Amino acid sequence: MATHANNFRNLKNFAPVFAIAFYLKFKGNYKYMSVILALESSCDETSASVLKDGKILTNIISNQLIHSKYGGVVPEFASRAHQRNIAAVTQQAIEDSGIKTEDISAVAYTQGPGLAGSLLVAAMFAKGFALSRNIPLIGVDHLHAHIMANFIDDPKPSFPCLCLLVSGGHTQIIHLTDYLEMEIIGNTIDDAAGEAFDKGAKIMGLPYPGGPSIDLLAKSGNPKAFHFPTPKIPGYHFSFSGLKTSLLYKIRDELKKDPDFLEKNKADLCASFQHRIVTYLSEKLLLASKDTGIKEICLAGGVAANSGLRNTLMLLAQKQGWNLYVPAFQFCTDNAAMIAIAAYFRLMKGNFSSPEENIYANYRKSVK
Ligand SMILES: [Fe+2]
Repeated sequence: MATHANNFRNLKNFAPVFAIAFYLKFKGNYKYMSVILALESSCDETSASVLKDGKILTNIISNQLIHSKYGGVVPEFASRAHQRNIAAVTQQAIEDSGIKTEDISAVAYTQGPGLAGSLLVAAMFAKGFALSRNIPLIGVDHLHAHIMANFIDDPKPSFPCLCLLVSGGHTQIIHLTDYLEMEIIGNTIDDAAGEAFDKGAKIMGLPYPGGPSIDLLAKSGNPKAFHFPTPKIPGYHFSFSGLKTSLLYKIRDELKKDPDFLEKNKADLCASFQHRIVTYLSEKLLLASKDTGIKEICLAGGVAANSGLRNTLMLLAQKQGWNLYVPAFQFCTDNAAMIAIAAYFRLMKGNFSSPEENIYANYRKSVK
C-alpha cells in the first residue's frame, strides 16, 4: 500500500509536466478542432452533446426517475444510473449529430462541482474516449457551463454582464468580463433557491422536484395572502434556510387551529412562498446591477424555468432598461450542451485539461 501511495504522490508531482506536454502536443491545432463531444453527469441527469464550430448539433438528456419516490437525489442510485446510461446516451448524441466518431476532435466533461460518484462516471468515460482516440480533454466547471448556456443561441450577451445562477445546488450572482473571466460576487450562505423550492414543496406534501409543483399551484394563488420574512443578509449574498423554516412554522401553527388549513390554502401558500423567493432574488440582482452599472443581465440554472422568476425579471428589465437573456429550457436544467459550449470557448484559447486532473465536488472561485 505504501508503495502505491508513494507512486501516486510521485505521479502527482509530475502533473504540471503532463499538462505542459499535453498542451504542446495540441498547441496550434486547436482552432481546427471544433467538433466537441461533451458529457455531463454531475447530479441526476446523464447527458451527451455534440458541438461543431460553436453550434450545438445534439443534446441528449436521460433523466433518472428513481429519485422522485425518495423526495431527493440519492447519490448512490444516481452514480449507478449514470454508469448504465452513459454509453447509450453518448452513442445517440453522436449518431443523431451526423458526425463520424473519428471526426470528434476533443472531449469535454463536467469536472465539478457535483456529486463525486456521479462526476466520476462522465470523467472516466471522457478520459477513456480521449485516450483511445488520442484527442484532447477539456474538464469544464459546471457553474461556468450553466452561465455559458446564454451563449448557445442568439442574441448573445455582451461583456461585462451579470448572471443570476439559480438551481437546486447554486444561487449566485456572477460578474463576467469575458468567456473565461468571471467573479462570484454573491452566493448563498446555506440552501440554494432550488433547494428552498424542494423543501417547501415537501413541507406542503407536493411531489419532487418542488419547483415545478409550486410554480403550477402558484398560478391560481394569491402571492400576498401570506407574508414570509425577507432574510437579512448583507451585499449580494443569500440565505434561504429561514424562509423554509417560516413556512414550516406557519403551516404547523395554522393546522392546530384548522386541520384543513393546508388543503384549503395550498395555492395561496405556494404563490406567497414563490413570491418571496422571486422578489428576494430580483432585489439582490437589482442591487448588483445598480452598484456595477451593468445592464446586460443573464439568467441561468434550472430555477430559470420558474414562470414567476421569468415574469418578474422581464418586468424589471423593462423598467430598468436591461437587456435580459434567458437560455432555452433544455439548456437551463443540467445538460451536456452547456458543457460543450463552455468547452468550445476553452478550446478557442487552447485551454486543455491534463488526464491527471481529478474531479472536484465543491465549487471553485475560478473557472480554470
Ligand atoms: Fe446544475
